[in-house]
Amino acid sequence: MRLAPTVLSIALSTVLLLTSPTTAVKHDNFKTCDQSGFCKRNRAYADAVNAAESSWSSPYAVDESSINFQDGVLTANVWKALPGDEYVARLPLKISVATDGVARVQIDEERRQKGDVTLRHDSKARKERYNEAGEWALVANDVMKLHKDAKMVKLKGGVRLEYGFSDTQLLVQHKPFKVTLLRAGDPVVVLNGKGFMNVEHWREKKELAEGEEKKEEEDESTWWDETFGGNTDSKPRGPEAVAMDITFPGHGIVYGIPEHASSLSLKETRGGEGNYKDPYRLYNADVFEYEVDSPMTLYGAIPFMQALKKHSTVGVFWLNAAETWIDIVKNRKTGDGAKADTETHWISESGVLDVFLLPGPSANFLHQQYGALTGWTALPAEFSLGYHQCRWNYISSDDVKEVDRMMDKFDIPYDVIWLDIEYTDDKKYFTWDPLTFKDPVGMQNQLDARKRKLVAIIDPHIKNVAGYNISSQMNDKGLAVKDKHGEKSYEGWCWPGSSNWIDCFSPEARKWWKTLFTFKNFPGSTENLHIWNDMNEPSVFNGPETTMPKDNLHHDNWEHRDVHNLNGMTLHNATYEALLERSGPGNERRAFVLTRSFFAGSQRTTAMWTGDNLADWSHLAAAFPMILNQGIAGMPFAGADVGGFFGNPGKELITRWYQSGAFYPFFRAHAHIDAKRREPYLIDEPYRSIIRSAIRLRYSLLPMWYTAFHRASVEGTPIIRPLSMQWPGDEDSFEIDDQFFLGDSGLLVKPVVTEGATDVKMYLGDDEVYYDYLDPEYAVFRGKGWHKMEAPLEKTPILVRGGHMVLRRDRHRRSTGLMKHDPYTLVVALNTEGVAGGVVYIDDGETFDNKKGDYIYRAFTLKTVEGEMKSVNIHTGPNDGAAYAEKTKDLRIEKVIVLGVPDAWLEKKVVSVAVGAETWTAEVSATKGGKGKPNFVVIRDPKLPVSKDWNLRFGETSESHGEL
Ligand SMILES: *[C@@H]1O[C@H](CO)[C@@H](O)[C@H](O)[C@H]1NC(C)=O
Ligand SMILES: *[C@@H]1O[C@H](CO)[C@@H](O)[C@H](O)[C@H]1NC(C)=O
Repeated sequence: MRLAPTVLSIALSTVLLLTSPTTAVKHDNFKTCDQSGFCKRNRAYADAVNAAESSWSSPYAVDESSINFQDGVLTANVWKALPGDEYVARLPLKISVATDGVARVQIDEERRQKGDVTLRHDSKARKERYNEAGEWALVANDVMKLHKDAKMVKLKGGVRLEYGFSDTQLLVQHKPFKVTLLRAGDPVVVLNGKGFMNVEHWREKKELAEGEEKKEEEDESTWWDETFGGNTDSKPRGPEAVAMDITFPGHGIVYGIPEHASSLSLKETRGGEGNYKDPYRLYNADVFEYEVDSPMTLYGAIPFMQALKKHSTVGVFWLNAAETWIDIVKNRKTGDGAKADTETHWISESGVLDVFLLPGPSANFLHQQYGALTGWTALPAEFSLGYHQCRWNYISSDDVKEVDRMMDKFDIPYDVIWLDIEYTDDKKYFTWDPLTFKDPVGMQNQLDARKRKLVAIIDPHIKNVAGYNISSQMNDKGLAVKDKHGEKSYEGWCWPGSSNWIDCFSPEARKWWKTLFTFKNFPGSTENLHIWNDMNEPSVFNGPETTMPKDNLHHDNWEHRDVHNLNGMTLHNATYEALLERSGPGNERRAFVLTRSFFAGSQRTTAMWTGDNLADWSHLAAAFPMILNQGIAGMPFAGADVGGFFGNPGKELITRWYQSGAFYPFFRAHAHIDAKRREPYLIDEPYRSIIRSAIRLRYSLLPMWYTAFHRASVEGTPIIRPLSMQWPGDEDSFEIDDQFFLGDSGLLVKPVVTEGATDVKMYLGDDEVYYDYLDPEYAVFRGKGWHKMEAPLEKTPILVRGGHMVLRRDRHRRSTGLMKHDPYTLVVALNTEGVAGGVVYIDDGETFDNKKGDYIYRAFTLKTVEGEMKSVNIHTGPNDGAAYAEKTKDLRIEKVIVLGVPDAWLEKKVVSVAVGAETWTAEVSATKGGKGKPNFVVIRDPKLPVSKDWNLRFGETSESHGEL
């Protein structure tokens, strides 16, 4: 969901929610940099530095005598001086270096650490700079494997730290303070190279005595209380921003920092043709009817950026949960296009300065380094990779059961049906509407008959009303977010009207929240109910920028300002743990939680979607770049509302949207309450059949999706991948964000996202052979560059890259749960050398027995010169998977299709299969290729057991691979 209506419309009652949506974001509801005091100040600072050119010297310097270096950790003090060398603040510096090459630079403010400051307005807020973001975002506070034998070499004017797995070095220059990460001697990341570093130290507000004239010093106009949209932020600590410039020398492309409706390759933000005027903003908010191609903030924030050049990628992770703005400028003086220096400027409103430098050098290393810090994507329950059917709202249990029946009647597979807010009794979560959802358990039982699930929404705003036990318990126990005085629960407006917000920063609140999901406390819930956390930015209809006042107080008296971007994650984390715990120890099932708001680390517990998009071609096109950037930032379980949330998609648009959606890691259709019903069976032919095929294509490829999720869960690799991961040496591919690879499958996909298109231009970044995956004759595409591919309405352009194998399931079922025992088809796409390989991961898809070793993990290889294909166990423990292999011994590959076989193989009528001492043969049918079409063979029913070693021999041949 959904929107944030104006205060007025709420006051006028929910009936007004039925007014039809307009189609423009309300810019006035959200700040520009110029309207955000600290952003404006820091941009002005950067402008002043740039204007001063070489006469500028950054006022930050390391006190050399304070340096201490031990066990991979350097500590020192950094002094901040005013012009004329008058020191105003001592800033403790800590630099940690790890064995994987990652370095962390942390800067705090001593006076604030000591609490030696006074807050205005008698505020009870904490005096320190917020330094607990890591407790949420990082997998552990001591997550870095410190490089204990790292060396420190003293240089003139600085030190060099030598550490990491290759030749990673960190240069720390004393005056002015500057940090450079070197890889193989080349600078790849530079902090404060431009001199924009700025730590706004604490200072007292000098109230003028009566008649006193203000002295002309610094411009204080944005230091104290700030008003926006009728809300005043009391700012009890005054100005306290932290900012730093981060330059990537020679790396002209940057990705990441979701969530924005923008391109994969981030744009410049300091104006000029084709550039944005405002920085990219990270301040989780319910942006009603967001626009595409914009640096405006959206619902979630991951301050992780990846920089690329040919054969090199590096990253930075800016660990700060306060409002953050990021300017991007490409300095083309040093090189054009992908070879420019990318100069970024990170500005956060409060908190400590804490930045991780990740050396790469490849995307795979980078994803591992980032995942080691913030954790891996939880391996999802398999059902959650199926198709999800949602709308605001299925109005009754009869409605739900009818949709369920109709999906079956029209043979359209799906796994999950969703309930938006209207299922509750008067927007009181953990209840059901007594009239429309009388028998929630009966409804869930009907779904369960086809192994389907229900997802219901539970939001963090709790209706503030007498007689609602959740509300009274939360408020009586003091578990809600407090207003700025810190005594009472903060009260604001959301769906239920007057509401209070659960404060999941509080351990007590989390503990209590988990009790609400027990089957006893949430009557009508079953094992098959999973949860959707919406509105958790949090969305507050009458709050500043539709969220909470920044001077609200959370657990431990941290200001909302400090923790805002973490808020959503604290909720979905508690919800996830609640779902695990409700089944009791030892009976945990993988829980599915969808969140709208997220931060770095959210991938450990949830999936996300891109919020309230529009039924418009531009929003269809915007989704892939957004989802790709989610993967870059370590949170690849992502999707966009299929069909568009607001409005009514035309038939072509919704059809194309299903074809796209079938390639979103999270595949859900959703619609606004005002939108016409659009369940796929309601759509006329031929569209309905085309949509059914798109959904079936998703289901057939689930083994590849699941294998990709497995890799994400152990190595942090994205599920759908930007082309730069496959072709790191091909700069021409770095900015393409409408085609992508699916995991390691070799499937290169370019769904149609433009109206009226009948073909697409597919880009190939190498000279490998590619086969048209959906063409019965597997037409070949080859040659680096652009290729025209036919894409009539019924077709999603998909190529499979030579050298890969695709394991899929061809039998149509009603849900993932019903496919469990189905046999597989293996598509082998030989490369130009006549070789192919592939990997598959399989487990029960629902329990945590995989952690005990109950899974299948296998590599398949085929080398034509050897005339042999085989399956090898690559199980990584804890045991060797033998017990699980025995349990799944009946899982079979019933068909093998080999694309691009040499001519000699066309003669073969049989292949021989060996499993242990047993052997048998299987029949082969061959098709000779012609112009632009490969030879291929189909092996029928070879009875290959998926969980065991086998050999499949094509008979002796020494002939090399034929020309295509
Ligand atoms: C709230 O009240 C409902 C209905 O009486 C009850 O089933 C539920 O257990 C109560 N929840 C809590 C947390 O006390
Ligand atoms: C959820 O949050 C708690 C409290 O910070 C933390 O201990 C736990 O590890 C988190 N869960 C996951 C799966 O990240």
